[in-house]
Amino acid sequence: MSAPQQADRPRILRASQADLEEIMAIERASFTTPWSARSIADEIGRPWSIFRVLRDSRGQLCAYLNFWVVFDELHILNLATHPAHRRRGHARRLMEYLIEKAHDSAASEVVREVRRSNEAARRLYESLGFSAVGLRPGYYNDTREDAIIYGLKITPAQP
Ligand SMILES: CC(C)(COP(=O)(O)OP(=O)(O)OC[C@H]1O[C@@H](n2cnc3c(N)ncnc32)[C@H](O)[C@@H]1OP(=O)(O)O)[C@@H](O)C(=O)NCCC(=O)NCCS
Repeated sequence: MSAPQQADRPRILRASQADLEEIMAIERASFTTPWSARSIADEIGRPWSIFRVLRDSRGQLCAYLNFWVVFDELHILNLATHPAHRRRGHARRLMEYLIEKAHDSAASEVVREVRRSNEAARRLYESLGFSAVGLRPGYYNDTREDAIIYGLKITPAQP
């Protein structure tokens, strides 16, 4: 199979308020306790919050990612792919983008808590080099499920 042409490649774009409805459709389909539209809109608008959407070659909003860099830690706030567009490498693309940004920033570690039962997310993070660095028993209010804290050390590029 030939390599995809530039126009066929999914694009990672800055999220805008106009994306809110599509983001919320994915959010509601992806989480037991979804964020409210208000909270997502606030994140899109915060100057320090990095919110990106991935659109496929047909312009469909397939996935999104939200993170903050707080001093030397990059915190992943949100990551989801539309159920109809999963296992196509979209979350991996967004995470590779995030890791690139971590290298460009002052972050020395990327962190994210994951539900113990979330096999898909755990495999995704592990495949990118993250490892379990902590446990928060009963962390999630809705199900009292444990959170596993995943971390990825960012080593500064050699001069
Ligand atoms: C987790 C999630 C974001 C993955 O999105 P995706 O776009 O389907 O992921 P990708 O196609 O980029 O998959 C990358 C890797 O993750 C792992 N993975 C993804 N989905 C998986 C699944 N259902 N089962 C096992 N491994 C899975 C695999 O290692 C996969 O690589 P492979 O396809 O080469 O085997 C998606 O399942 C989702 O939105 N889930 C609900 C919301 C959520 O849990 N968000 C993360 C919160 S921490």
